[in-house]
Amino acid sequence: MSRKIKLCLLGDSNVGKTSLVSRFASDFFNEHAEATIGASFISKTLQVDDQSVKFQIWDTAGAERYRGLTPLYYRGAAAALLVYDVTKLSTFKTLTLWIDELKQFGPQNIVVAIAGNKCDLEEREVPTEEAVAYADEIGALFLETSAKTGKNVKNTFVRICRQLPSEKTALGTSCETIALNNGSTEEENHCYC
Ligand code: GTP
Repeated sequence: MSRKIKLCLLGDSNVGKTSLVSRFASDFFNEHAEATIGASFISKTLQVDDQSVKFQIWDTAGAERYRGLTPLYYRGAAAALLVYDVTKLSTFKTLTLWIDELKQFGPQNIVVAIAGNKCDLEEREVPTEEAVAYADEIGALFLETSAKTGKNVKNTFVRICRQLPSEKTALGTSCETIALNNGSTEEENHCYC
């Protein structure tokens, strides 16, 4: 069985959206990744359980001047991956703008996942607990990721796939790392570094 999933990456400039896509699609990390202009597209097929899943990924530019273009990319998307940088609080605060916009103009029932990227770095400005609370409040998946080390990158896409309507029964699979949450029903929606 195979399926196609259109997925859109959103988030501030420099949070690591392109790097996450490169790690996922090519297992490659560039310390000096260049800023995206407009948006870029990449597709990657992944085996998830008994399905071959073709992710059609739109990686949007985070720079403010491209904001007006993003509806073109999240239109018709089954999932949105909202990325922030765990070392920059301002990038986490911006997520509320994306959520408001998706609620207003995005596809109904779009699956939303939040990735706290650059979790390989020590200097944190966004506490995990705060991000988890926000993800729970809006019903989003939450993972801390590192495009640099690869931590939770593939897992993010697998979990998004499993969260899509026909895959709801597959919830409950394990994280790459141990969830801190002690036994709540939301536990399976969180993966930490
Ligand atoms: P825009 O294209 O401007 O929207 O930026 P972006 O969100 O696509 O960020 P990009 O992937 O270009 O990464 C920005 C910078 O952060 C680059 O120097 C990357 O090497 C670095 N970077 C990305 N992900 C990580 C990560 O997980 N850990 C660390 N330490 N650095 C990262």
